[in-house]
Amino acid sequence: MSASEFWNERYQIKDYLFGVEPNDFIKAVTPKAAAVNDDAPPTAYAPADGEGRNGVFLARMGYQVTTVDVANLAVDKALALAEHHGVALDAHVGDVFTHPVPEGHFDIVTVCFMHFMPDDHQRFMTAMKAALKPGGLFIMEAYTRDQIPLSSGGPKNPDMMMSAEQLAGEFADFDIELLQETRRLLSEGPRHQGEAATVQLLARKT
Ligand SMILES: C[S@@+](CC[C@H](N)C(=O)[O-])C[C@H]1O[C@@H](n2cnc3c(N)ncnc32)[C@H](O)[C@@H]1O
Repeated sequence: MSASEFWNERYQIKDYLFGVEPNDFIKAVTPKAAAVNDDAPPTAYAPADGEGRNGVFLARMGYQVTTVDVANLAVDKALALAEHHGVALDAHVGDVFTHPVPEGHFDIVTVCFMHFMPDDHQRFMTAMKAALKPGGLFIMEAYTRDQIPLSSGGPKNPDMMMSAEQLAGEFADFDIELLQETRRLLSEGPRHQGEAATVQLLARKT
């Protein structure tokens, strides 16, 4: 089964699988839109943005937002959520590995609960770091291995999970403003409910 088939099957429900409110961490650390370079509009990229809860939040914060997700049913919901809030979303159906992403373009990149196997993870992170402008912010929340016995979402493969130690290495060339592992309650739609083990990262490209 392809990723789009897998996720479209889940996104068939009428409800928003991960809710319509932004992820708590992204909401807490995202600054109001202020372009790194004053002469250009502030831009944000939300890869694998699902039904758009974070992309729409970024648009409401004043960013010009591009999203991509492999599941067309999720992108339809993201566009409906954007319309509901009266904001524009440049939402694409596509694969994060093949969707063209301009280098050095975005003021913010947000990644929310997107887990890959190690080789793909490296490729993905390298591309996301490259997509940021110098001075741009990388914001991410992901599950750690402690999530595996919990039922509030995420894959069950330990190789796909992240840790603060791992991310400290991967972002050694950024200024890390916040990096912490958490044990916290998630309440994000029907899919992410209950105790969760996550890692949160806020890092600025130098
Ligand atoms: C756990 S969901 C998280 C969705 C969203 N980030 C959120 O937190 O609401 C993972 C998302 O990644 C998308 N996805 C998985 N593999 C992908 C790929 N290779 N390219 C683009 N999207 C992908 C799925 O369709 C799904 O929407």
